[in-house]
Amino acid sequence: MALAYTRALLKLSGEALLGERSYGIDPEVARRIAAEAAEAHGDGIQIAIVVGGGNIFRGLSAAAGGMDRATADYVGMLATVMNGLALQDALEQAGAPTRVMSAIAMNEICEPYIRRRAVRHLEKGRIVVLVAGTGNPYFTTDTAATLRAVEIGAGVILKATRVDGVYSADPEQEPDAHRYSRIGYTEVLSNRLQALDATAVSLAMDNRMPIVVFDMTVRGNITRALRGEAIGTLINDEVPA
Ligand code: GTP
Repeated sequence: MALAYTRALLKLSGEALLGERSYGIDPEVARRIAAEAAEAHGDGIQIAIVVGGGNIFRGLSAAAGGMDRATADYVGMLATVMNGLALQDALEQAGAPTRVMSAIAMNEICEPYIRRRAVRHLEKGRIVVLVAGTGNPYFTTDTAATLRAVEIGAGVILKATRVDGVYSADPEQEPDAHRYSRIGYTEVLSNRLQALDATAVSLAMDNRMPIVVFDMTVRGNITRALRGEAIGTLINDEVPA
């Protein structure tokens, strides 16, 4: 089978790990995500994963509740480390060698993020789980995913969410909203579509990094997305008329 991408960056929201729970990690969901990633990895696709932390702590909501925003963001970054370690465990149980690399040094727990070393791990066939966001407050894990994808020369960002793509409006509020199969970066930005935050989209645009937004709750979709099958919405450059 011809590979659509040699190297892909999979962005998993923390909520992806919730399953039916309201807090924490559902081991069954972690196992399923890991099995799907390991299956695509078995085809020879190089996979880096950036994981969020919203299942444990949401920086923005804590800030809205009165906590200092930078402090809240650091707590959120620590939540991503817990998710990364849980994912490493699940991935290795699924047979995929994995390295966790953190943007904030915590050497007793995982490796520090060093770009060239991350690329080397990928070349050696390890799934690399990148945690602690960018290491800076005020940046989302979507932005961290975009930054890392550009840095490591990934061919695509695969954003795994609970909706099946980018819609013209919130489909829960507006029944007429339609789903795009493809949309340009500037259209996402100018219409303030809620697919990813604007910093992530503009960084992807400047570096012509395609983004696929897809529904990870459908069994098999993570493998399909990693294999380059057309699912969800592709965000890329506008095609000239
Ligand atoms: P290569 O030797 O380059 O192929 O990579 P490797 O990851 O197999 O070897 P290394 O000796 O760097 O690491 C061996 C194990 O220790 C791996 O599981 C790494 O994830 C882990 N490791 C490496 N550096 C650190 C670190 O700074 N902190 C922690 N906690 N683990 C580390």
